[in-house]
Amino acid sequence: MARVIAIANQKGGVGKTTTAINLAGSLAEHGHRILCIDMDAQANLTVGLGLNPRTIERSIANVLIDSNVSLKDIVLPTQTAGIDVAPSDIDLSATENTLFSAIGREHALREAIAEWAGEHYDYILIDCPPTLGLLTINALVASESVIIPVQTQYYALKGFNALVSVINQIRNRGLNSDLRILGLLPTFFDGRTLLGRDMLAELKSMGDHHIFENMIKQTVRLGEAPLVGRPVTAYATSSEAARAYRGLAREVIELG
Ligand SMILES: Nc1ncnc2c1ncn2[C@@H]1O[C@H](COP(=O)(O)OP(=O)(O)O)[C@@H](O)[C@H]1O
Ligand SMILES: [Mg+2]
Repeated sequence: MARVIAIANQKGGVGKTTTAINLAGSLAEHGHRILCIDMDAQANLTVGLGLNPRTIERSIANVLIDSNVSLKDIVLPTQTAGIDVAPSDIDLSATENTLFSAIGREHALREAIAEWAGEHYDYILIDCPPTLGLLTINALVASESVIIPVQTQYYALKGFNALVSVINQIRNRGLNSDLRILGLLPTFFDGRTLLGRDMLAELKSMGDHHIFENMIKQTVRLGEAPLVGRPVTAYATSSEAARAYRGLAREVIELG
């Protein structure tokens, strides 16, 4: 059965989507079959894996609101061997409201995965939107674990407690009692600056959470990635960014 991992942080621009794409790329290099699920109406994951949202007829939005649409109806292959995507489109922004009036609304994604994807993939990575709304809750209810990218900049930890509190509520209310934080992933790291090092110390003070050893440095390689439509492991295969994400994949595999 697939391991299901959400990549979440309600702050935008911290490297969630970049991590989903490149962790997928690195896991695929190990021969694993990966499904990336795009839960953000901005569709950056969909585009970042080389798909054109304008050509997408049905998206994850359809799966979430219509029980007659299965994940298998919307999943598409990408240009990268081993990686499929459940695309998003702008319709997903309306889905949150529709879900609000539905029964069992927190479980829609979990049920969709159980129905089909769970046995077709080794890893399912869910890229969350920059909110703590029902879409993120659906992702967290559907996942075994969550990776939290944290930008090592000022105010990076503002809001961290709110995210942990949502995770705890999901556990305690029985929505997903086994959900665990796999680790915090420092992103945009610049070890040359005091700020970067201070942030790391602060991250360690945030509680008893695993901090991934393979921190992601700030690099133009990743800034240009959204235009390429493939993981950095595929187009800049020996770059430092590719090595870091490969290291992250090893840690994720080891953490089980
Ligand atoms: N380590 C990094 N160094 C430089 N640019 C990065 C890095 N990680 C991500 N980016 C760029 O920063 C922007 C935001 O990253 P993204 O992964 O989309 O964040 P999120 O999904 O959390 O909103 C994107 O343009 C991305 O290409
Ligand atoms: Mg994103």
